[in-house]
Amino acid sequence: MKHLHLIDLNDFPVKFWNELLELGADIYRNPKKYSKACEGKIMATLFYEPSTRTQMSFQTAMLRLGGSLIGFDNPSTSSVSKGENLMDTTRIVSGYADVLVIRHPQPGAAKAAALTADCPVINAGDGGHLHPTQTLTDLLTLWLEKGTLGNLKIGVCGDLKFGRTVHSLVKAMSCYKGNSFVFISTPQLKMPQYIKDILSVHGVSYKEVESLEEVIGELDVLYMTRIQRERFASEAEYIEQKDTYVLDTAKLSLSKPDLKVLHPLPRVDEISVEVDKDERAVYFKQAKYGMFIRMALIMTMLSDKKRHIQLLRGKEYPGVCCSNPGCITNSENYLPKSFIGIGDNVECEFCNERTLL
Ligand code: NCD
Repeated sequence: MKHLHLIDLNDFPVKFWNELLELGADIYRNPKKYSKACEGKIMATLFYEPSTRTQMSFQTAMLRLGGSLIGFDNPSTSSVSKGENLMDTTRIVSGYADVLVIRHPQPGAAKAAALTADCPVINAGDGGHLHPTQTLTDLLTLWLEKGTLGNLKIGVCGDLKFGRTVHSLVKAMSCYKGNSFVFISTPQLKMPQYIKDILSVHGVSYKEVESLEEVIGELDVLYMTRIQRERFASEAEYIEQKDTYVLDTAKLSLSKPDLKVLHPLPRVDEISVEVDKDERAVYFKQAKYGMFIRMALIMTMLSDKKRHIQLLRGKEYPGVCCSNPGCITNSENYLPKSFIGIGDNVECEFCNERTLL
């Protein structure tokens, strides 16, 4: 079934993102113009993981376009609790709705859902892997608040290992000219190798550091993230990492006056509340922009009947399974174990983890 799915922003050219941004900015300025754009359409939200902003901004986006909603935000009250697999849930719900928004704790789940859905699927976060609609939110924020998406030195701080928001953001921002990155994390929470490889292929410069104070003065953008308790194998490992990075007014005073501080939220302790008053802090505006860009996305997904993406391009290697135990292909056994060969390794098409052949 050929539909326009948004699993990974990088499945599309930058031109498509820019069109979404133009539309999102127009909706932001003239919301009334779009109040009937999706009349008669139904969006299903399948949230297998907690969410406030992503879920509610998708829901209000659809309501503000004149559409309607179905869905669940607690799988324990759906047939998932009876053991229904992702394929069956997706197949059924996509028969009821015109567009499906899915958030799931396992990497690759949105792509798995798209393989059986009979309507467009939007990835609203798949485990620690990707979060393309947060990135669209971030792009709209930077465009409106910074005035450009290029020639920026972008600091990304916190949980770079499990942070799906930063994986999607770095992949996207590496496609705009002149950007460079500073990855600020502990050695345990470094940016995954496959993301750094993408930067190398694009010739984008980056450095990895441990101290926020040392680099904050160089940055045009600082993207803070939460240390995500739910992604650690043990509570002890989480305790060791939490509170490592806290942006307070003392550190902020070392930065450029036109720095923009973003955060996908929720915040725990990584940004002191006193920073909220500073003009450089744009994370609450960012959350609001998310609604407008999601309106643009829903409209586009529902109206573009020509564009579609090829979900799988690789092949199965007899006897080879993805080495990431959390990958959706290791729990939903009917899924094809599809890989792209890279030297002595194969890269899983669902979660991007590399497995040595
Ligand atoms: C992020 C997420 O769910 O990945 N939040 C969001 O979608 N706005 C970041 C987080 O939970 O820390």
